[in-house]
Amino acid sequence: MPARGAESPLSVLDAHSGAVSELYDGAASSYEHYRALWLRLAGASAEEAMLADVSAVIRPGARVLDAGAGTGALAREILTFEPSATVTLLDLSAEMLSHAEDVPGERVLASVMDLPFDDESFDVVVSSWVLETVSDPRRAVREYLRVLAPEGHVFYTFCSQPQGFFSRAGSLWLRTAVKYGFAGEFLKPDRTPWHDCERSHRWRFHGGLTSEVALRKCCEVGDGLLPVPEPSTVSKDTP
Ligand SMILES: C[S@@+](CC[C@H](N)C(=O)[O-])C[C@H]1O[C@@H](n2cnc3c(N)ncnc32)[C@H](O)[C@@H]1O
Repeated sequence: MPARGAESPLSVLDAHSGAVSELYDGAASSYEHYRALWLRLAGASAEEAMLADVSAVIRPGARVLDAGAGTGALAREILTFEPSATVTLLDLSAEMLSHAEDVPGERVLASVMDLPFDDESFDVVVSSWVLETVSDPRRAVREYLRVLAPEGHVFYTFCSQPQGFFSRAGSLWLRTAVKYGFAGEFLKPDRTPWHDCERSHRWRFHGGLTSEVALRKCCEVGDGLLPVPEPSTVSKDTP
């Protein structure tokens, strides 16, 4: 099935998004290999936490948006534990989406920062390793919350720039590889989408290098700097 929006000229996107979609179009055929490597190096714990969260709340027939779906790895996984879900895969890169053709569901070529959906269209919104690649991660998460149904759930994973000198130095090679290979800038506190309440959580892994966040419809993502120490953040690192 062709992606909805496939005719839209990428020139309507900002320069950053245009460069990112071009980069991922070029990387699409080898992406799954690097994804597996990324999970082994750093990403697995946060992604497993997200999938566990999704499996705990997803209902039969749930409307799921995979925002920045790439080659559909997450959607594929979700359909294994809830095959009756209706999945929409959205991405900027037509090439990445073309590698998700085995995933049943609609494919939409669009930006996470300007979702082409009505308010309250989805029961679950998931987004893994996407916010590092967009020019305004907070705007993207506000869009996730806008399209979320009143009792719905948003889950996302992302990488953060470590705060300590030694952690920063130790992760430099990884951050450099992700930046130049996959347009990913590990998020600094002034770009991190956050909200703190008893219905949300942020779990951190690898000393804060990766995180998994759960939000509900009532959550709000403001422009304020992420407080230090971070509110209600649970470190899931093994001692
Ligand atoms: C690191 S990949 C992650 C893909 C997938 N979520 C996964 O877990 O494998 C980042 C994806 O985000 C997409 N992307 C980047 N910026 C985007 C934007 N503004 N809107 C939609 N997709 C975007 C890229 O095309 C790419 O497919």
